[in-house]
Amino acid sequence: MTDKYAVIGNPIAHSKSPAIHAAFAKQTNQEMTYEAIQAPLGGFADTVKQLIADGYQGVNVTVPFKFDAYEMATELNVLAQHAGAVNTLMFKQSSISGHNTDGLGMVRDIEENLAISLQGKRVLLLGAGGAAQGVLHPVLDKNPAVLTVANRSVEKAVAMVEKVKAQYPSVDLAAETFDQLNNAFDVIINATSASLNKASLPISDLVFADSCLAYDMMYGQETPFMAQAKANGAQVADGLGMLVEQAAEAFLLWRGVRPEAKAVIDKMRVS
Ligand code: ATR
Repeated sequence: MTDKYAVIGNPIAHSKSPAIHAAFAKQTNQEMTYEAIQAPLGGFADTVKQLIADGYQGVNVTVPFKFDAYEMATELNVLAQHAGAVNTLMFKQSSISGHNTDGLGMVRDIEENLAISLQGKRVLLLGAGGAAQGVLHPVLDKNPAVLTVANRSVEKAVAMVEKVKAQYPSVDLAAETFDQLNNAFDVIINATSASLNKASLPISDLVFADSCLAYDMMYGQETPFMAQAKANGAQVADGLGMLVEQAAEAFLLWRGVRPEAKAVIDKMRVS
C-alpha cells in the first residue's frame, strides 16, 4: 500500500505543501501520496483520528491548528516542547509523535541556501508570538554573539528572553521595544504578523548593518519590512526557503531521506 501523508489547515486550498512534497517524493523515489485537507475549526482531533484510522503515516499542520497538534501529540521532541507548537505529526503503532521543524527550516535556509552562518552574529528577532517562539531555540543553538528580541508588547519579549537566558549564557540576550532599537544587527528576522496587514514596523534604519541579511518569514510579496531593508542596502530574503526547508525536515523525519530543498525552492519561486 502507498504511504499516505497530508497537510491539515483551515483554510488550506492555497497550500504549497502538496507540490513541495510531490517534488521531494519524485526526487528521492519515494512512493507516497500527500494531499491538503481542510479540518473544520474545532475539528482537528477528529480529523486526525480519522486519518490514523485510514492508515495515514503522518501530517503537517498549519494555521490555526499547531497548538491543537501540540495538545494531541503523545510525545514531543525537544524543539516542539520549546516552541509550544507542532507542525509535524508522525503516527506510530501506539503513539503520535509531535515535532516542530519551522525553526530548523529557517536556520537551514539562512545557513545553507543563503550561506550566512549565524555563529558570532548580532541577530535581531522581531516579534514574540508563535512564529518567533518557534525559531528562538534553533537560532540560539547556532551560537550568535547577540540575540535581541523586539516586540510591540515588550513584556512578551522579556518573558521569552528570561525563559532561555540560563540555557544560553554565551549569548548576549536582550528584550526591547521597537523604538528602543538603535544599534546595528547582522541578521534581522521579521517574525511578526505585521506584514499580513501590510503594516510597517516602527524600527530605525540603524538596525541594518552594512551587508546585513533581512529575513522575512512571509513570502509571496515584498513586505514593508523588506522594502525598508532594501532601501538600507540589506540582502533581503522572504520565507519561501523556510517553507520548503521546514517541509524537507518533515520529509526527512517521515521517510529517513533528506530531499534537496534548493532545487525545489528555485522551482517554486518561478511557478
Ligand atoms: P504568529 O503565530 O504569526 O507568530 P501571533 O502569535 O499572534 O502570530 O504573534 C504575532 C506577532 O506579530 C506578535 O509578536 C505581535 O506583536 P504583539 O505581541 O505586540 O501583539 C506582532 N504583530 C502583529 N501585528 C503587528 C503590527 N502591526 N506591528 C507590530 N507587531 C505586530
